[in-house]
Amino acid sequence: MEKKMKFFVDTANIDEIRELNDLGLIDGVTTNPSLILKSGRNISEVTKDICSLVKGPVSAEVTAMDYDNMMRETNHLAKIAENICIKLPLTFDGLRACKVLTEKGHKTNMTLCFTANQALLAAKAGATFVSPFIGRLDDIDLNGMELIAEIRTIFDNYDFRTEILAASIRTVNHVKEAALIGADVVTVPAATLKQLVKHPLTDKGLEIFLADWAKTGQKIG
Ligand code: G3P
Repeated sequence: MEKKMKFFVDTANIDEIRELNDLGLIDGVTTNPSLILKSGRNISEVTKDICSLVKGPVSAEVTAMDYDNMMRETNHLAKIAENICIKLPLTFDGLRACKVLTEKGHKTNMTLCFTANQALLAAKAGATFVSPFIGRLDDIDLNGMELIAEIRTIFDNYDFRTEILAASIRTVNHVKEAALIGADVVTVPAATLKQLVKHPLTDKGLEIFLADWAKTGQKIG
């Protein structure tokens, strides 16, 4: 199977999503309650707008803590669009919902993953994605990337199909390290995603080329 790393953008801001989508840079979107708050919009409306812009999976998170209400919220979220991916917390109720939703053919994303064992449970529940939070582990002086490496090894040991979605990405270095380890997806804030193209020597080199080109007096085409 051809292996391609996917880039998701971690935002519910429609302008940011549109800009990156137009650049052909993104394969999907992840949202969460904090990002919905930041967008200042209604969850159903903003999620619908995002889904109409982006072809790939758009993660929308349930906010219920118990299985029955998670399923009720899922019924609502899943109706928004075909490309909705139901984001569930890594709890027993979340895992139970994940298993049932997977069997029904829904895409699922198990979120707030902080240990390899949690990721293992998500894979056993048939999750489409599991989201280990890199930055938040780094925040408490643990090594977020080590977790990605552990999950990669475990999933490869058993051929689990669940994709590792490296989340809580804070730096361009996180993106590089996740790629080196073989995370299937990184979900990145728009500003960090835009930083990936930046290097001062690229800017300086362009400046020199353009100045020299002007001196030739030529035009292409
Ligand atoms: O989508 C969830 C995750 O990416 C959150 O990141 O920076 O709030 O830890 P952060």
